[in-house]
Amino acid sequence: MSGESTYQPSNGFTQWMDTRLPLLRLAHDSFVDYPTPKNLNYWWTFGGILTFCLVTQIITGIILAMHYTPHVDHAFNSVEHIMRNVNHGWLIRYIHANGASMFFLAVYIHIFRGMYYGSYKAPREVLWILGVIIYLLMMAAAFMGYVLPWGQMSLWGATVITNLFGAIPLVGDSIATWLWGGFSVDNPTLNRFFSLHYLIPFLIFGVVILHIWALHVPGNNNPVGISVKSEQDTVPFHPYYTVKDGFALVVFIILFSYFVFFAPNVLGHADNYIPANPLVTPAHIVPEWYLLPFYAILRAIPDKLGGVIAMVGAIFILFVLPWLDTSKIRSARYRPLFKQFFLIFVVNCLVLGYLGAMPAEGVYITLSRICTFYYFAHFLIILPVLGLVEKPREIPESISASILPETAASPAE
Ligand code: HEM
Repeated sequence: MSGESTYQPSNGFTQWMDTRLPLLRLAHDSFVDYPTPKNLNYWWTFGGILTFCLVTQIITGIILAMHYTPHVDHAFNSVEHIMRNVNHGWLIRYIHANGASMFFLAVYIHIFRGMYYGSYKAPREVLWILGVIIYLLMMAAAFMGYVLPWGQMSLWGATVITNLFGAIPLVGDSIATWLWGGFSVDNPTLNRFFSLHYLIPFLIFGVVILHIWALHVPGNNNPVGISVKSEQDTVPFHPYYTVKDGFALVVFIILFSYFVFFAPNVLGHADNYIPANPLVTPAHIVPEWYLLPFYAILRAIPDKLGGVIAMVGAIFILFVLPWLDTSKIRSARYRPLFKQFFLIFVVNCLVLGYLGAMPAEGVYITLSRICTFYYFAHFLIILPVLGLVEKPREIPESISASILPETAASPAE
């Protein structure tokens, strides 16, 4: 942790505890007196929002699991039972299902924030890598969770994705059979997906603790991307950021509530209200919106193995991002060219998402190929080259200097 501890035990018990297991000291130094750059904007509130999402998913998930039955003959009906008979079951399920979407919305904003402000650069590479691990775990948890209601999209989505392992040379089919626990997606698959879906959020919780630890060693990055130079550049986390994060959380919860109470099914697929039927394949098998860009990349490549490699590569390339970006300047504010390319990259990801929802034919396929190429070019060509050719704008002297107008820089009376 940066700085010295300022914790003062306030009574006999906390004093006693402090010399045995100084948990309160840790909490105080991490979330009360923690010196935080004073210029953090609202893009920095999403880490707190994500923590809220994780806790919400775990609590609602535990309650759902009390009434859910992971068996192919009962799963669909047990979900209907939750919706109709369990007290507030509809609410808990809609919070959980829409909560997954809100979680991904927040994580995408959080990731793009990191990319824009160069938060992945030294000395925060490990923090970033832990983030990518969390993201991978989130995708696994969401994918398996979607299988549990055992609707048509559950079964066929799981079939498409698990079949991808069959593309691996020599051992592919054996791996698919091993994953299924049989010869297709069936009861053993549903059962193990339930087990893993319950487990993974707790793994995420563990990695989040490491993530925040890795954040608190170097300290936060900030919108100007220059390191904290003096105490003047920081404010204590509480009350400044507890209040700011709290306000952003309330706004986020209002949006979340809109979906839960007024449009609980718009983000899902209608076919998942049809019980799974291995004899009827839906016309279009599509994943949830947050996985669509990767689905577009998968289908852009004509060869199955190639598609799988591209899709996996699209995520794994994030692990090496800190080393692909050759610019020493963190924040896009001082990188005029990068700023433009960042914007194009975001639009490219959104277009990929749109293409993932379209049928894999004609112009959609052509566009998917162009966008897939651009996605990789951004990391492998644009970022390394930009760092070498771009002329950055002048960097302010300090965080304080960057936010104080020239005239007000002298001490005010
Ligand atoms: C369950 C998911 C996650 C949780 C709960 C979480 C939590 C947090 C928190 C509380 C912060 C500090 C506040 C803030 O900067 O917003 C933070 C910072 C950060 N996170 Fe995450 N995070 C998650 C996922 C991710 C992912 C997927 C990535 C990247 C792939 C990531 C990358 C970062 C980076 C680079 C920072 C440093 C920000 C800075 O100081 O500029 N996080 N995270």
